[in-house]
Amino acid sequence: MSKCPYQTTSAGSPVADNQNSQTAGPRGPVLMQDYQLLEKLAHQNRERIPERVVHAKGWGAFGTFTVTKDISKYTRAKIFDTVGKQTPLLTRFSTVAGELGAADAERDVRGFAVKFYTEEGNWDLVGNNTPVFFIRDPLKFPDFIHTQKRHPKTNLRSPTAMWDFWSQSPESLHQITILMSDRGLPTDVRHINGYGSHTFSFWNNDGERFWVKFHFKTQQGHRHWTNEEAEKVVGKTRESTQEDLFSAIENGNYPKWTVNVQIMPEADAEKTSYNPFDLTKVWPHSEYPLIEVGEMELNRNAENYFAEIEQAAFSPSNVVPGIGFSPDKVLQARIFSYADAHRYRIGTHYEALPVNAPKCPVHHYHKDGSMNFFGNKSGSTDAYYEPNSFGGAVQNPDVAEPPLKISGDADRYNHREGNDDFSQPAALFNLFDDGQKQRLFNNIAGAMQGVPQNIIDKQLALFDKVDPAYGAGIRAALKA
Ligand code: NDP
Ligand code: HEM
Repeated sequence: MSKCPYQTTSAGSPVADNQNSQTAGPRGPVLMQDYQLLEKLAHQNRERIPERVVHAKGWGAFGTFTVTKDISKYTRAKIFDTVGKQTPLLTRFSTVAGELGAADAERDVRGFAVKFYTEEGNWDLVGNNTPVFFIRDPLKFPDFIHTQKRHPKTNLRSPTAMWDFWSQSPESLHQITILMSDRGLPTDVRHINGYGSHTFSFWNNDGERFWVKFHFKTQQGHRHWTNEEAEKVVGKTRESTQEDLFSAIENGNYPKWTVNVQIMPEADAEKTSYNPFDLTKVWPHSEYPLIEVGEMELNRNAENYFAEIEQAAFSPSNVVPGIGFSPDKVLQARIFSYADAHRYRIGTHYEALPVNAPKCPVHHYHKDGSMNFFGNKSGSTDAYYEPNSFGGAVQNPDVAEPPLKISGDADRYNHREGNDDFSQPAALFNLFDDGQKQRLFNNIAGAMQGVPQNIIDKQLALFDKVDPAYGAGIRAALKA
């Protein structure tokens, strides 16, 4: 008996020779009946699935969430019900614009997606390393992403397209300021914060609702590269983040984040000076302080990157009882977009794949479809419709979310009216010391190279409105 198992075809038939094709004579040609050869070539042709339309380049790991503080007065979610409770999780970090083979050390927002395998189903928090986003209306998302991807004719990234869009979208100023600041080019993903970014909701056992924002604060501290440093890194390795995260975990140096929430009582949403459901805004810490909830630790690498990270499917639609959505328009659109993307990118039954499968019983009445390898999921063979008299799974009114009062006339409201796009970027700008400001000016000026002057002027006028010193600093950097 060999030490290794014997090789087989995918139908399990033993393989006698995996070195030599079957041929008519030693010089060939090959025989049509060499099914091993045909199977190998056919499988190779099917090794790629479409890359993610955004966030294609990514790095992932498994870990644990541990509750450190009791927040059960805000939410009935079982993941938070006991201090010390641990829940397994998967994270995937990413850049947004680059393709699957892009270099890691690029200036870009980092995706920060977490799948908590809770006892009441998977809860996915699909956030970024920034608390805000470039747009507040989802109708703008495909246009915005087109400006980040390649020009149809040159097949190159286009700074002109980016600044053309941004200079006509003042709501992007807050996120641009973060992207062009030191934190816009992190050395790796152990040294970044993560944010749920949107406002979500919590509801408790008494049927009370709270608005909530999630913050993951790195315990490793922040580390970033200047553009010049990153150029040298990319010259040496395009996989700096993969190398860093993978080797830290292999060496037992497990990265950790402190998980915090900001809580807003439901009625406060009518009172804040800003729209708390606007994705381009934060809730100031002075008004809604961070409340510690737990700790996230990453402690296990995937055994197979493709199966467990590339096929991972995160979706903001995955919430569990006690955690809900909010009126945030972008969040509402994402509830549709991700599961739709997964059905196209991975396949109808993507949630049955081991990495995506909940670690709790799953009972539904979805039937058939390609690659259905799970059989009956209703809990009873004769119950393949609902309602039924054969003991199939039934609804559970105990997990019904409290009703949310909504009013208003259906219309397309101008989201740029009555929104202050300047004060919060100004607050951030004024957090920076002189060195940070100068690097911000330089980064923006560098990113504007080759952009037509009329577009630059439009954008500078917006920076002036944030703070005259912001616009002036960029003008000086552009001259230099
Ligand atoms: P605070 O002074 O209480 O908080 C400042 C926040 O800014 C901290 O969370 C800090 O993160 C973060 N920060 C520091 N440098 C950068 C950077 N280069 N890029 C992004 N974030 C950075 O202020 P406020 O709550 O009143 O907010 C003021 C501004 O701070 C906001 O307009 C917003 O731009 C930014 N901010 C606010 C957050 C919030 O939820 N209130 C969250 C993140 C940023 P850390 O503690 O990790 O150093
Ligand atoms: C990935 C759509 C806004 C974070 C994706 C994907 C789509 C998408 C289609 C690819 C999914 C896949 O194939 O697996 C959208 C739309 C948005 C939006 C339509 C707005 C209308 C946002 C925002 C955030 C975000 C605001 C963060 C706050 C992410 C992350 C991923 C991702 C982290 C990668 C997830 C992973 O690692 O697999 N987005 N997105 N997106 N998006 Fe968004």
